[in-house]
Amino acid sequence: MIHDTNTTQTSPTSQTPSRPQRFLAACRREAVDATPVWLMRQAGRYMAEYRALRQRHTILELIKAPELACEVTMQPINAFDLDAAIIFADILPPLEGMGLSLEFVKGEGPLIHNPVRTRADVEALTVRPAAETLPFTLEAIKLTRKELAARGVPLIGFSGAPFTLAAYAVEGGGSKNHARVKGLMMSDPATWHLLMEKLSQVVGGYLLAQAQAGAQVLQLFDSWVGQLSPDDYRAHVLPYSRRAIEIARAGGVPIIHFGTDTAGLLPLIREAGGDVIGVDWRIDLDAAWHMLGDGVAVQGNLDPIALFAPWEELRPRIQQVLDRAHAVGRPGHIFNLGHGILPQTPVENVKRLVEFVHEYSQGLRE
Ligand code: CP3
Repeated sequence: MIHDTNTTQTSPTSQTPSRPQRFLAACRREAVDATPVWLMRQAGRYMAEYRALRQRHTILELIKAPELACEVTMQPINAFDLDAAIIFADILPPLEGMGLSLEFVKGEGPLIHNPVRTRADVEALTVRPAAETLPFTLEAIKLTRKELAARGVPLIGFSGAPFTLAAYAVEGGGSKNHARVKGLMMSDPATWHLLMEKLSQVVGGYLLAQAQAGAQVLQLFDSWVGQLSPDDYRAHVLPYSRRAIEIARAGGVPIIHFGTDTAGLLPLIREAGGDVIGVDWRIDLDAAWHMLGDGVAVQGNLDPIALFAPWEELRPRIQQVLDRAHAVGRPGHIFNLGHGILPQTPVENVKRLVEFVHEYSQGLRE
């Protein structure tokens, strides 16, 4: 097949704007022929191709070898008719660049061997340019852009947001109630400020470097922000997410701001910034969009568990998300899950979901 970046229409049914533009246009709240769809964590263990590579490499090896990161990024793009690719990386390597020792422990998730607990620990964290600490991901972005040009699929770069990175840095890994990180935030504001100040510099600089390397959209993952009350978010987190987004703005690309359990925080998340706000399934998409107002696009919000249901159960749930977005009557919906896809997800349902989102949303526009 002959590919041309400007004219490729991989989806035979797509009209103007063509598939390459669909996702970028939706980020800008422009009308599109069909709702664009991609899935958080779309490259990963539910795919046999990924599991095969993981037999031979650790996750950090995959992330740190640009050719391998590029290969993994392309796996879901080769398998499904997705409207965007997301660079294969993780939210945690920037913490390594600040001086923390990171390991992914089989069956347990991430572990920081030297978590940040004291003022001296925070003072010891370094803030260095992404080009020095994360050159592999910037290189992977350049390589992957070349691969994707032939398909006309845009590439997303990403970073963890300051609070979610602080959560891992302070807890030393995953946490149920985030008592240590919230404890630091509530008991030692000066140390908290220094930690969040450093993180916002690192996150903003990393996002900007990714845009400069070729990422066409950036996503900020604030996965654990739903742990906070609106007052704490406003006082102790919002200014730093805003700062990171402001730094990334110089990259000139749309920014998606995502969190989970954010039904009570949406107006504040919007205030922190972003062109697209990502929402999870704990709130109806139309209610979320009304709460956010008409100046932003939205991304979401199917429960990832729905992908385990039989198609007859899954289909109406997908349809409902699309109907709710349609009912709001504004352009700018990007279909996604409300959180990352799970490792045991049946591949067949992913394929059907992507096809159905395009087909059904095209029908809504006719
Ligand atoms: O979306 C993509 O396809 C790009 C790759 C990506 C990964 N992690 C790869 C990964 C992205 C965008 C992330 C983001 C990420 N990482 C988040 C934010 C999104 C979210 O889910 O809230 C968070 C909190 C992390 C931290 C993280 N990384 C955890 C908690 C774990 C272990 C838990 C698990 O799912 O196993 C990881 C490991 C990880 N990152 C895997 C992948 C594919 C699985 C590890 C493996 O291959 O063994």
